[in-house]
Amino acid sequence: MRAASEPTNGSPEFGTRNLIGHVTGTSVQAGTVHGGVHVHIASAVPPVPAKPSRRGLPRRIDLVGRDAELESGVVMLTDPDQRHVLFVHGTPGVGKTAFAVALGWSVADRFADGCVFVEVSERGDLVADLLSALAPGERLPGERDQRIAALSALASRLDVLVVLDNVRDEDSLGEVLALGGRLAVLCTSRNRLTGLGDQDVSFLELDSLPVGDSSRLAVSIAERLTPQQSVELAEVCGGLPIALCVASARINRTASLDVDRYLKDLAHPDHGLEELRAGARSVERIIEYSHRELTSGQTALFATLGMLPTRP
Ligand SMILES: Nc1ncnc2c1ncn2[C@@H]1O[C@H](COP(=O)(O)OP(=O)(O)OP(=O)(O)O)[C@@H](O)[C@H]1O
Ligand SMILES: [Mg+2]
Repeated sequence: MRAASEPTNGSPEFGTRNLIGHVTGTSVQAGTVHGGVHVHIASAVPPVPAKPSRRGLPRRIDLVGRDAELESGVVMLTDPDQRHVLFVHGTPGVGKTAFAVALGWSVADRFADGCVFVEVSERGDLVADLLSALAPGERLPGERDQRIAALSALASRLDVLVVLDNVRDEDSLGEVLALGGRLAVLCTSRNRLTGLGDQDVSFLELDSLPVGDSSRLAVSIAERLTPQQSVELAEVCGGLPIALCVASARINRTASLDVDRYLKDLAHPDHGLEELRAGARSVERIIEYSHRELTSGQTALFATLGMLPTRP
C-alpha cells in the first residue's frame, strides 16, 4: 500500500489519499496514535479497506477430482462477457465449501482487490456480514439503508471476488446481487435458491464423486485400504465426500479396526436409519454407527440437542 499525504477534495481535514492497486479513497493517516483511530462506514464515503487479498479464504486443499467443474467455474467467474455470479449448490457434505475454496484460490489473482470469504451466519444479516468482511474493523451503520448504501459504494469501486458460503435464503442474497457494481460473487448453498427473480446467475450443481475419485479420496486419508476395500467404501458412502472422509478417518485413526467388518457394518441394511434421501444414506449409517459408540450420557445429550429448535 502506498499513501501520499496530499489533501483530498471533500475528505476529512486530515485525510490522505491512499492508493491500493487501482482503488482510491479516503483514510486517516496518523503519526502517534492516542486512544485509537475510529473510521465509520456510516459516513457518506465509506473508507477504502486494506487490500482484501484472500481475506478469510480457508487454507487451500488439494481436491480429488472436480477438474471439469473447476474449469467451468473459472470461466463463469472470469469470462468478460458474463456477469460474474456463480451459484454452487448440492446436497450436504458433497463438497461445496471445499470446491468454493479451491475455486477462490484459482481465480483470486484475476481480481485486483483479491478475494474475501464470508461464512454466512445462520441468523445473521448477509449485508452486515459482507460489509464487515470488506471493511473489517469498521463500525457498522445502524440503519439498514445506510448499510446498503455503504456496501453499494464499496461494490462500485472494488474489483473483488466475494465468496458467500452457505447462503440460506434468497432475500438477502437478492439484495446483495442487486447492488451490481463490480462485485464477482461465488455462493454456495444446500438448496438451489429459486427465488432470485431475473438476476443473471450461473448455476453449478455438485454431484457425488464418481467411484474412482471416491476411492482415491478414501485412500488419501486411509492408506491401509486395499483397492478392493476403497471401492467398497466408495460405494457404501454413495460417493459423498463427507461420508468418505468420516469413514476413512476412522479407519486411519483406529489401527485395530477390522476394515472388512467395518465395511459390512456400514453396508448392513438393519443398521441404517430410515433413509431420508438417497444421497445421504451412507451418512445415516455412519451417524448411526458413531451413535452406537457413544456413552449413555453422550447419547442423552445428543438426543436433547436434537430437540432444540434450529430456527427462530
Ligand atoms: N473433491 C474433494 N476432494 C477432497 N476432499 C473433499 C472433496 N470434496 C469435499 N471434500 C472434503 O469433504 C468434507 C465435506 O466437504 P464440504 O464441507 O466442502 O461439504 P459441503 O457441501 O460444503 O457441506 P455442507 O452442506 O454441510 O456445508 C470436507 O472435509 C472436505 O474437505
Ligand atoms: Mg459447506
